[in-house]
Amino acid sequence: MIILRSDEEIGRIRKAGLIIALVFDKLKVRIKPGIETEELDRMALEEILKNKGLPAFKGYKGYPANICVSINEGVVHGIPSKRKLKGGDIVSIDVGVRSGNYFADAAITVGVGDVSDEARRLMKVTEDSLYRGIENARPGKRLSDISANIQEYAETNGFSVVRSFVGHGIGERIHEEPEIPNFGKPNKGPRLESGMILAIEPMVNEGGHEIEILDDGWTAVTKDKKLSAHFEHTVAVRDGNAEILTTL
Ligand code: MF3
Ligand code: CO
Repeated sequence: MIILRSDEEIGRIRKAGLIIALVFDKLKVRIKPGIETEELDRMALEEILKNKGLPAFKGYKGYPANICVSINEGVVHGIPSKRKLKGGDIVSIDVGVRSGNYFADAAITVGVGDVSDEARRLMKVTEDSLYRGIENARPGKRLSDISANIQEYAETNGFSVVRSFVGHGIGERIHEEPEIPNFGKPNKGPRLESGMILAIEPMVNEGGHEIEILDDGWTAVTKDKKLSAHFEHTVAVRDGNAEILTTL
């Protein structure tokens, strides 16, 4: 069952989403060659707590950190560490926040210093594919219209979409129904209705779509070790256009 949220509930989810946007604003200016990814984790926690939120990922299925930091071939779920970012890296930051009883979830990928044209194109195509998805998150559309449009856009631009992780409903838990794949045929699945809250999160690879999990049990990397990018927003389906909740 996909829960329809009231305006009041959507306001509470937006509050959690605002905290995530504040975290990204703070981290973006600190993402420079030489910074340890653990330092980003500490700064994110500080900003979340300052705004009376809680880090939603910490302890989720035993996840050990506050945020996920995935570098280069890292797809998702990279664990912050003493590793320092280097110029030319691309780094995905994924943040989940609980505020009161409601959750929001978002991710960005940014370049560290100067990055290659191909890396820049991958990041741009991934972000634009997210917006293709969001444009399709409106009443009258069906769930897989989001999926199909993301896939079509990424593949038309010569990239592949990850199959083994998906977007998701969100609200009073970080993962609720439905699952939102980033691939598939259009015009399938439930019809979208005002009040549905969706975390849409394309993971797009420079090379093949296959991934593997490192020995830490969390970090997903591309099998061919080529680059991967990830963008995510939590959005509310509304009459007219979807409303992005993870923004200032
Ligand atoms: N945005 C990711 C997801 O929706 C966050 C993973 S949470 C983790 O699955 F705690 F498992 F890392
Ligand atoms: Co998510």
